[in-house]
Amino acid sequence: MISQELNETLTRTGPGTEAGEVMRRYWQPAALTDELAGKRPVVPVRLLGEDLVLFRDSEGELGLIARGCPHRGADLCYGRLEDNGLRCPFHGWHFNRNGQCVEQPGEPEGSRMHEQIRTTSYPVIEKNGIVFAYMGPGTPPAFPNFDCFRAPESHVFAFKGLWECNWLQAMEVGIDPAHASFLHRFLQDEDPADSYGKQFRDMAANTEIPMTKLLRDYPRPDITVEETDYGMRIIALRHMEDGRTHVRITNQIFPEAISIPMSREMIITQWHVPVDDETCYWYSMFTSFDKPVDKQKMRDQRLREHRLPYYAPIKNKRNNYGFDPEEQARETYTGMGLDINVHDQWAVESPGRIFDRTREHLGKTDVAIIKYRRMLRAAISSLKDGNTDALPMCNGVDVSKIYGPISNDTIGTRDNWQDVFTQSDAERREACKGWDAKV
Ligand code: FES
Ligand SMILES: [Fe+2]
Repeated sequence: MISQELNETLTRTGPGTEAGEVMRRYWQPAALTDELAGKRPVVPVRLLGEDLVLFRDSEGELGLIARGCPHRGADLCYGRLEDNGLRCPFHGWHFNRNGQCVEQPGEPEGSRMHEQIRTTSYPVIEKNGIVFAYMGPGTPPAFPNFDCFRAPESHVFAFKGLWECNWLQAMEVGIDPAHASFLHRFLQDEDPADSYGKQFRDMAANTEIPMTKLLRDYPRPDITVEETDYGMRIIALRHMEDGRTHVRITNQIFPEAISIPMSREMIITQWHVPVDDETCYWYSMFTSFDKPVDKQKMRDQRLREHRLPYYAPIKNKRNNYGFDPEEQARETYTGMGLDINVHDQWAVESPGRIFDRTREHLGKTDVAIIKYRRMLRAAISSLKDGNTDALPMCNGVDVSKIYGPISNDTIGTRDNWQDVFTQSDAERREACKGWDAKV
């Protein structure tokens, strides 16, 4: 458990907060490219507690500017998308993608007041289906060479979903390899042929054992954590009765992303982005090392579970997450259906919007959570001391040399699992035909 004061420090990310300052040193997912696909590409964005509007101008470039008009505060999400910018419908002030006011049609002829009006604007960049924003000071950092950014667009599918809780509890479920044996337990093993686009429904690496069975049969993983240049690597070993060892490698990417294997074909890189302190979005990039991703299929699967335009899950606390005690008795550990996203959503929302961590009792399997909080505290105090260089991936290293990170499931033995997971990662990269995945 931690003190209430520390809980506040770690969870609050609005402007001027300590954790918020750390977050603002990194690119943050702001929207899906899909959201701008309609006739009028203007979408509201609430990010780290700031209200913004994202739009595509007539040159095809994106702008992310403050949502409230700097004149008298009207909502620019209702703006007129015209003249290569966004025009406020209240008095016609016109803004370009950099937030500069370029016209005030109601002010006296020849007025140059508009030259003094520049609203908040943040740099944005599109990467494989996600629009990222940089809300911090100075020059935005370069993107690391992670697989989700290196792979061509054809091999990456992006989606998002809204969770009604603080970002930290959402992220903490992603660095907790123990929960998969319980929360995502299926009492029957589905035909893996029907596993496309789903997590934990494939066979465990190079075996005849469904992942669902392996997780169910071996619920006490031996978890270790290694600090890395991007955050940390989390190793979960499940020692099996026949002498083999299942190795699951997942990662925390500082400050609020994770990278995990989804199936033999795909990995997931997922950000847990604060909308504000009580709501967050997960943004996922599904990256394939094999065939191009079937985006239509993956989108349709997920749109059945989410309601647009906010990507709000259809199962939620107002309908008890679809909880069915009959199903819980026979089919799933939760009784909340087969979509593991719903299980995670219940797990992170039900402790309350901002979980009171003075009441928690962390065990041995929570080692990555403990380690992560230390990393975030260290980053906060380094920033306070003006030592930006101490932050992961900000410390002058060439981030273009940060690859991967390795996210996979492998089978080895108690003694050789270290070689086995690096080797199986290398084999998968070697076999990748659609793009150069080698590191
Ligand atoms: S409030 Fe926007 S132009 Fe007046
Ligand atoms: Fe989970």
